[in-house]
Amino acid sequence: MLGRLNHIAIAVRDVAVEAARYRDILGATVTAPQALPAHGVTVVFVELPNSKIELLEPLGEHSPIAAFLARNGEGMHHVCYEIADIFAARDQLIARGTRVLGDGTPKIGAHGKLVLFLHPKDFAGTLIELEQV
Ligand code: CO
Repeated sequence: MLGRLNHIAIAVRDVAVEAARYRDILGATVTAPQALPAHGVTVVFVELPNSKIELLEPLGEHSPIAAFLARNGEGMHHVCYEIADIFAARDQLIARGTRVLGDGTPKIGAHGKLVLFLHPKDFAGTLIELEQV
């Protein structure tokens, strides 16, 4: 079912500060911060040869990242795997007893592609995002 690792997302308080660390200390290529109001985040991508890291800063009052930071502090937020057919995957996962977050309908995610999130309690405390590519 799973394809490539698309990205790992890390919740941070200040993307500019953390992007500068990746750039200046780790020598990574980072993008300019991009505000995505529909998703309640400002994002910076750290570009890696085989994947990317997304640094997520809360944006707006209803940001899911604000709630995460309040509960857990900064740290890994989710991992995203690529998938060929998100509707078929969703149906298989539900049949196997996995909890899909929300109403189970794939939504347009931060990259303009269909995504679903799986309950972290079903995967060792890790929030999983599936993205159709
Ligand atoms: Co993501």
